[in-house]
Amino acid sequence: MHDFQYKDNELYCEDVPISAIAKDVETPFYLYSHNTLLNHFNVFDTAFSSIKHLVCFSVKANSNIAVLKTFINQGGGVDIVSGGELFRALMAGAEPRKIVYSGVGKKIDEIEFALQTDILMFNIESTQELEVIDDIAGEIGTRARISFRINPDIDPKTHPYISTGLKKHKFGINKDKSLEKYIYAKRLKNIDIIGVDCHIGSQITDLTPFIDTLERIRELISELQKEGIGISHIDLGGGLGITYDEETPPHPNIYAQEVIKQISDLNCTLILEPGRVIAGNAGILVTKVLYTKENEEKNFVIVDAAMNDLARPALYGSYHGIQPVKLEEKGQFMADLVGPICESGDFLARDRDMPQFERGDLAAIMSAGAYGFTMSSNYNSRLRVSEVMVTGDNFHIIREREEYDDLIKGENIPQFLS
Ligand code: LLP
Repeated sequence: MHDFQYKDNELYCEDVPISAIAKDVETPFYLYSHNTLLNHFNVFDTAFSSIKHLVCFSVKANSNIAVLKTFINQGGGVDIVSGGELFRALMAGAEPRKIVYSGVGKKIDEIEFALQTDILMFNIESTQELEVIDDIAGEIGTRARISFRINPDIDPKTHPYISTGLKKHKFGINKDKSLEKYIYAKRLKNIDIIGVDCHIGSQITDLTPFIDTLERIRELISELQKEGIGISHIDLGGGLGITYDEETPPHPNIYAQEVIKQISDLNCTLILEPGRVIAGNAGILVTKVLYTKENEEKNFVIVDAAMNDLARPALYGSYHGIQPVKLEEKGQFMADLVGPICESGDFLARDRDMPQFERGDLAAIMSAGAYGFTMSSNYNSRLRVSEVMVTGDNFHIIREREEYDDLIKGENIPQFLS
């Protein structure tokens, strides 16, 4: 359930009519419901309350510091993949010992930053990375808590670009090789092994791949025990899917039940790295219709948001619901909702039944709270849009829209050209 609902034929976010926000804030803008973010976090967190656990929100899904702070205030941690995400998390007030760091390509300065911050755990994806972290920890005079990210070779049956747990993927360490990696890591001077980690993909709507993964993790943990390597943390990553269109993903309670069944006897702290399931349906992208036109084949609704603002439809062919901000007595038609960018791939919906939008109408692009703003760019030198958070009958601008000066920040014309 989310807080974007119609009242008196007007789309509201919580108790604020979206059209009222659009009078104050220039379109397009991302709009988040604080209440939905909070509810989604709490439902997810509570689902695991019978075991030791830590919900580390995946910053890549939505990295606005007000959004992060919402979860941090609930005791949540964060899953980061870069120095930039670590910086954001700290700015939002994340507790260092609730930060886990994933990713195949951690750079030296990022590793130093994370070690100096004393984060909870590095999820390690290669032997070279392990050795570099060991060296840097030695130089700094500290120790690194680590887990290995295991690639279980399991097909999560999702879009190929967001599936990560198969042998052909760059992620993690082949499960068959993992025991020897752990044995090697145990010998390193500045490394403390604390966990086993995995993340098999995203927008997963079936529980089986998660369960199969946990079975492999259990096997590994018992092999590790035989080698005298104790594991105190299991990180299951993120990946639980949401409803964009007609998908029927399991409720977090069912997901939690199944996960707990698999691991409750292991006496480990479970780490979860959800992103989409918490933020996806807590945000929308509000856009205005600039023009409409038609040719012999199609109707086009040209809006002021584009693929640089929401990349998912262009990148993955993803479905996002399109809803009018005002429900009016208009006919429906089949149309493409497209942006101003000079590419045919710049569409937000294709061959979709939608209201016969007219110039000046506002439209809501639904389910845009995860991987929306975070994947936006300045392509076509378009300004990155503002982000707004509603709570009750108030709204707050949590990120200002960029200005033209932001576009050339850091650019220089060298002497020889002037
Ligand atoms: N942990 C790790 C290590 C990850 O790589 C990811 C997502 C997550 C957690 C969070 O996954 P979630 O719970 O949100 O599924 N841009 C794509 C999604 C890419 C996901 C990348 N990794 C999209 O728009 O669908």
